[in-house]
Amino acid sequence: MNHTDERAHHVANAIPRDHDAETAFYALWLDPTLTYSCAWWDDGEDDLHAAQLKKLDYHAEQVRAAEARRILDIGCGWGSLVRRLVEHHGVPHTVGLTRSPSQADYVASLGDARIEVHLADWADYAPEEPFDGIVSVGAFELFARLGDPRPARIASYRRFFEKCRGWLAPGKTLSLQTIAYTRGQREPTPGDRFVDAFPVSRLPVLAEIAEASDGLFEIETLRNDRLHHARTFRAWLDRFRARRARAVALVGEARALRFEHYLELLAQSFQLGTLALYRVTLRRLEQSRVRAEG
Ligand SMILES: C[S@@+](CC[C@H](N)C(=O)[O-])C[C@H]1O[C@@H](n2cnc3c(N)ncnc32)[C@H](O)[C@@H]1O
Repeated sequence: MNHTDERAHHVANAIPRDHDAETAFYALWLDPTLTYSCAWWDDGEDDLHAAQLKKLDYHAEQVRAAEARRILDIGCGWGSLVRRLVEHHGVPHTVGLTRSPSQADYVASLGDARIEVHLADWADYAPEEPFDGIVSVGAFELFARLGDPRPARIASYRRFFEKCRGWLAPGKTLSLQTIAYTRGQREPTPGDRFVDAFPVSRLPVLAEIAEASDGLFEIETLRNDRLHHARTFRAWLDRFRARRARAVALVGEARALRFEHYLELLAQSFQLGTLALYRVTLRRLEQSRVRAEG
C-alpha cells in the first residue's frame, strides 16, 4: 500500500459504519479531505491532497479567516473547508450548509463544537448573527434550473447574492468558486446530457454573475483557473481507475462507467476551454451605495 492508498484507506475506515455507500464511493477517489471541487495546483505540484489544502487556504485568505470569528460555507460537502478553518486558521465558529443528508451526518459525526452543520437550502436559512466571511465552492453551479430563461437565472443568482450580503458584516467578503460556460448564452448540448454532468441545473456565464451581484457586491478579484480543474479531473480519473473494481462493487458497472466518462469529458472541457472555473472574491457594498445605484 503506497502513501496515497494508506490515506484513502484511513479515510474509508474513518467513515462511520452507518454512513451510506454514496460517501464510501466518493471516498474511494477524492483526496482524504473529501473535497469535491477544483483544487489549486502550483507549478510542479503533483499531489491532489496538497493541491486541495492550498485551495481551502486560498478561500480562507480571501475571507480574512485569521481575523474572523464566524464563517459560513454554503454547500459545505463533507466539511473540508469548515474543518480547515477551525483546525488550521483558528476560526472559533463555522457553519456549513448542505443539501445532502449523508454529508450533513458525516460533518455532524466529526463532533467538533466549533463546526455547526445544517441540512438546508441557503434559500431557507436564517442565521441569528452576521458572518465575518462567506465561502461557497462548487454549489453556485446548481442554483439555476435547466431550461430557466436568462431573467429567471439572474433572479435566482441575485437572491443568493442578496442573502449573502444580508448575512455579512459590513466590509466583509464572499469567496465564490464556480464552474461556468465560457461562451455566453450557450445551451446544454446532448453531450452534456450524455454524461449527466448537470442533469437538473444550468451553469452560469460570467456576465450573469456580474449582473446578479451588481450593486450588492464589488468584485475584488476574478480568476479563471480552468487548467487547475482539468488537472483536478485528471487526478480524480487516475484515482478512480486505480480503484475501479471497488467502485463497481459499490455502485455497479453501469454507473461506474458513466462516472468514468463524466470525469474524462470534464477534464477535456476544462482543458479545451469550453468550461471555465471562476474564483471570484466579492466585497459587500454598503447600503448607501445600493440605494444610490440600485
Ligand atoms: C460539488 S459539492 C462541493 C462541496 C464542497 N464545497 C467541496 O468543495 O468539497 C456541492 C455542495 O453544494 C451543496 N448545495 C447545492 N445546492 C445547495 C443549496 N441550494 N443550498 C445549500 N447547499 C447546496 C450540495 O449539497 C453539496 O454539499
